[in-house]
Amino acid sequence: MGTAPDRYAVIGHPVSHSWSPFIHGMFAKQTDQNITYSRIEAPPEDFERHVGAFFQTGGKGLNVTVPHKQVAAFVARYRTPRAEIAGAVNTLMMDDDGIHGDNTDGAGLVTDLVRNLGLALEDIRILIVGAGGAARGVLGPLLAAGPEYVEIANRNSDRAVELANEFATLGATRGCGFRDITEDRSFDLVLNATSASLQDLIPPIPRSAVGPATLCYDMAYGKGDTPFTRWAKSIGAGRAECGWGMLVEQAAESFYLWRGIRPDTKPVLEAVKDQRLPLKA
Ligand code: ATR
Repeated sequence: MGTAPDRYAVIGHPVSHSWSPFIHGMFAKQTDQNITYSRIEAPPEDFERHVGAFFQTGGKGLNVTVPHKQVAAFVARYRTPRAEIAGAVNTLMMDDDGIHGDNTDGAGLVTDLVRNLGLALEDIRILIVGAGGAARGVLGPLLAAGPEYVEIANRNSDRAVELANEFATLGATRGCGFRDITEDRSFDLVLNATSASLQDLIPPIPRSAVGPATLCYDMAYGKGDTPFTRWAKSIGAGRAECGWGMLVEQAAESFYLWRGIRPDTKPVLEAVKDQRLPLKA
C-alpha cells in the first residue's frame, strides 16, 4: 500500500493566478517526492483560521502570498533571522514544537541575480525603486551580499528614508524621493520593487540612473516585457529582466526547507517563462 502524499499549499487573496502549484509540481516530479500542492483562497479575516485548519489536519507546509506575508510573521511561533529582518514570512512549516516561519524571497532574488544572471553583487551600486513590503523583503539578503551601497527611492520619500535607516546597520543605505536619486553616474543594478507595473505605469526615475552596464530588474513578471523592462530597454539599459527567476528560486528555497532537496530550477524557469501569463507581482 502506498503512503499518502504530504500536503502543501499556497495561501493568498487572490490566489487563483499563483504559479506555485505548477512550479512545486515540477520540482516534486523531478525529485520524486510524493506530495500534493494546492491553492487556498483566504481573505484577510480568514487567514489564521485557514492556516490553523491546514496544519491541524496534517498539512506539512504553506507558501504565503499577497496580502498575508506580514500577518504570517505573527502566526509563526518561530521565525528565522531572515524572516525577522524582512518583517514578513512567505514559507510556513509545522515542526514538533509548532509553526515555523521563514522568508525565501530575498534569497530567491539573490540566487537569480548571481547564479542565473551572472551579476556579482560585491561592491556594486544598487538602486531599489519602492519602499513597500517587496523592497523590505529583499533588502537584508541584498545587503548581506556586500554591495558598495543601496539607494532606496520612493514616491513617498519619507518611507524610503525610514526603510534605509532601519537597514543601515546591515550596510550602506540611503533613502530619497525620485527627484533626489543620485544622478552623477548610473547604477549597476536598478530593481523595481514598486507595484507600478501592475497599473501599467513606470516609476519616474531619471534616465541617468540607467546606463549600458546597468541590469534593470522588475520584481513583477509577465509574458514578455513589463512596462519597466520595456522602458529600460528603450533607454539603453545593458540588460532588463523581470521576476520569473526570483519566483522560481524562492520556490526552490521553500522546497528545500520542506523536503531537504534542491531541485534543478533551470527547466522549471524555462517552462514558466514559456507560458502566456497576465502581469502579476
Ligand atoms: P508591496 O508589498 O508590493 O511592496 P506596498 O507596501 O503597497 O506593496 O508598496 C507598493 C510600493 O509601490 C510602494 O513603494 C509605492 O510607493 P508609495 O510608498 O509612495 O505608495 C509604490 N508604488 C505604487 N504605485 C506606484 C506608482 N504608480 N509609481 C511609483 N511608485 C508606486
